[in-house]
Amino acid sequence: MIAYGGRLALAGELSAGVLVVFLLYLSKLYKPIRDLSKMTDTIAKASVAYERIQEILDVESRVRDLPNAREAPAFRGGIEFDHVSFGYTGQAPVLTDVSFRIEPGQIAAIVGPSGTGKSTSPA
Ligand SMILES: Nc1ncnc2c1ncn2[C@@H]1O[C@H](COP(=O)(O)OP(=O)(O)OP(=O)(O)O)[C@@H](O)[C@H]1O
Ligand SMILES: [Mg+2]
Repeated sequence: MIAYGGRLALAGELSAGVLVVFLLYLSKLYKPIRDLSKMTDTIAKASVAYERIQEILDVESRVRDLPNAREAPAFRGGIEFDHVSFGYTGQAPVLTDVSFRIEPGQIAAIVGPSGTGKSTSPA
């Protein structure tokens, strides 16, 4: 390209200025083309990531509403346990006479050894 342009310039068919400007534009063209080829790589990676995200979004939740479940209103109230007793089997009680109140906006934590009924309480 340069040799061809140089020959044209020597033959007087092309001015040296035009040749220099042409070469300048040519060098400016390289970076956008390189960026464009990098972009295809980015797009390929993004489409693979999108497929994986879609897979997760398509997973159906095992927790489902009952067929005629009513829409729950936005909860604003407190939570109160008033002498609650509960057992899964009827023979072994898990919660016995539990009472507490959590006010709206209050943050509470249920702590205790494993198997004492922490997960059972909010269920
Ligand atoms: N679905 C269930 N059916 C029968 N028994 C259950 C069930 N879930 C829990 N339990 C029993 O109830 C008791 C309390 O269990 P829970 O899961 O509430 O304890 P936890 O305090 O949350 O324990 P961890 O710290 O291990 O999470 C345990 O003895 C457990 O075996
Ligand atoms: Mg638990």
